[in-house]
Amino acid sequence: MKRLYFIFLVFALLTLTGVRVHSQTADLIIPVPQEIRLSDGFYTFTDSPEIKTVRLKEGKVAAEGYILEISPKRVTIKASDDAGEFYAHQTLRQMSRNGQVKSLQCCTITDSPRFGYRGLHFDVSRHFRSLDFLKKQADAMAMYKMNRMHLHLTDAAGWRIQIDAYPRLTEFAAWRPQVTWKEWWNGDRAYAEEGTPGIYGGYYTKEEMRELVEYARERHIEVLPEIEMPSHSEEVFAAYPELGCSNEPYKDCDFCVGSEKTFEFLETVLSEVMEIFPHEYIHIGGDEAGKGRWKTCPQCQQRMREEGLKDVDELQSYLIRRIEKFVNSKGRKIIGWDEILEGGLAPDATVMSWRGTEGGIEAMRQGHDVIMSPGKYCYLDHAQDAPFKEPESIGGYLPLENVYGYEPVEASMPSESIHHLIGVQANLWTEYITTDEHAEYMYWPRALAIAETGWSRPEAKDYADFKGRVMTALDMLRSMGYSTFDLENEYGERKLAQTGMAHKAVGAAVTYNIPINKSYPGSGETTLTDGVIGGWTYSDGRWQGFLSDIDVTLDLGEVVPVHYVGGSFMQLTGPYVFMPKKVEIFVSEDGDNFTRIAEVWNDVSQRTEELVFRNFDTICDVKARFVRYKAESSGVHGGWIFLDEIIVN
Ligand code: ACM
Repeated sequence: MKRLYFIFLVFALLTLTGVRVHSQTADLIIPVPQEIRLSDGFYTFTDSPEIKTVRLKEGKVAAEGYILEISPKRVTIKASDDAGEFYAHQTLRQMSRNGQVKSLQCCTITDSPRFGYRGLHFDVSRHFRSLDFLKKQADAMAMYKMNRMHLHLTDAAGWRIQIDAYPRLTEFAAWRPQVTWKEWWNGDRAYAEEGTPGIYGGYYTKEEMRELVEYARERHIEVLPEIEMPSHSEEVFAAYPELGCSNEPYKDCDFCVGSEKTFEFLETVLSEVMEIFPHEYIHIGGDEAGKGRWKTCPQCQQRMREEGLKDVDELQSYLIRRIEKFVNSKGRKIIGWDEILEGGLAPDATVMSWRGTEGGIEAMRQGHDVIMSPGKYCYLDHAQDAPFKEPESIGGYLPLENVYGYEPVEASMPSESIHHLIGVQANLWTEYITTDEHAEYMYWPRALAIAETGWSRPEAKDYADFKGRVMTALDMLRSMGYSTFDLENEYGERKLAQTGMAHKAVGAAVTYNIPINKSYPGSGETTLTDGVIGGWTYSDGRWQGFLSDIDVTLDLGEVVPVHYVGGSFMQLTGPYVFMPKKVEIFVSEDGDNFTRIAEVWNDVSQRTEELVFRNFDTICDVKARFVRYKAESSGVHGGWIFLDEIIVN
């Protein structure tokens, strides 16, 4: 009776203090621990709580793992390393809601991570972030047992780290007239002299970066610096034009691989970077190189002849291999985005797979370590809820549930290579994310999903349970001053996309008079007649994308009365998705003789920045077995049109 009274008291106290009450304090932990064994009784924190630490021999508990024993008298932490001990404290911290809950249910928690690399990425080039912001995120990362902070320090939008040998990188290439990336990108993409009134930008001094490295180290986080090469380097050529193929500012985006000056620059920069960041890995970028100028640049062509390189992919590989050799000579290793596979992978490189997982799987096959960060699950720059209620973003739709749904081990991975899968990372590119508050909002809670995927056993993952734990975590994060997404009021997927739709063309065979584009096939030839309406994003497998016109013929199987024909399109101009210029609709009873029953012109402006859905349709009163639906491309060079369903009633 006494105990019941006590439990009631704790419950009442927590309710009164506004703390979300859960049946057990241990079952709110993120990432979910390997094993929780509950026992009788409660441990109550005093002003000087008795926490006993026992250091076990190496191997007794897995690396970074711990055993946390909570008995009525004391808390005991057993670990084989400092990280394990630290993580036991993070678990305790979560159980006590950062000290708000004074009484913990007794239990024994045995825990260790699934992967050694659990990363979060910070794009500080597109928009600069303060050192305090990075420290604050490191605090949250540590609480959820994330251990790699990837800093994207250099990109066209600004160079962000002091390099003594090349001062123009921070005197000039770190500053721009416009605050927002969007205005800068849509404008002249110019840089500005440091100190010019009203300019935007910034960089970290070496001292500040050392301070961050130390701050993160205390929280068992390694800071991974990324220096982009050979591309995403327009800011470098604005400051040092001789490093690009044209030798002129504002012309190049790729380093000239034929020039020795490029290697002198990169090796000098990397040497200074390695003096600041003491950890094993240096990220050398490697993504999205255009390589176009290399085809005509005399120095690049000469390099290719001298080195026997058959194409520009091999020229990129030459650069990466040479840089790898240099980095290895300093006792470090390189990580690169999956494009570094092109032209041949450098011998000891680790691959960060972002364009999907195929690159990562191929690298594993070749015996390389891999960090998985596929855009479909790990790119937190996509909107996390219905785009109409979210801040402007790069597009897409990646709610918490989808991030959580990512399972890094795939059936197609050779079992003997699985050990090369060393971890996972969530990335936040910040083109559309100007403020710190907005960045935090995009990270939390979705970073928690990656934290759990990186730490917990896949069998232990359960979204409904996770979501409950996240609600509590968000309460705690908000109470600590973080801006977070409002998960409680999540709108969710487009309603039409959730319910499906019955109509006369469901199951109808579709003839593509113009072939499907391989990049966005949707779910293949049944996409347009499967009764499934597309969701918030054109990449959800329900939309079919065309760079050409669309011209399809539907066979309804028999002649039926037709009163409505319509196709639904989306427009999102950021990623170049537009409405068709017009649609024409034809019907036929025999498949040979078609009658045009409608011509529908687009009335959605191509200047509209928001996501728009529009039916190109007609009401009619005809009999038909065949319906031909033709949509004319938008007229924008390189623009897509996306259609999800052709509805016949
Ligand atoms: C990337 O998203 N370009 C790595």
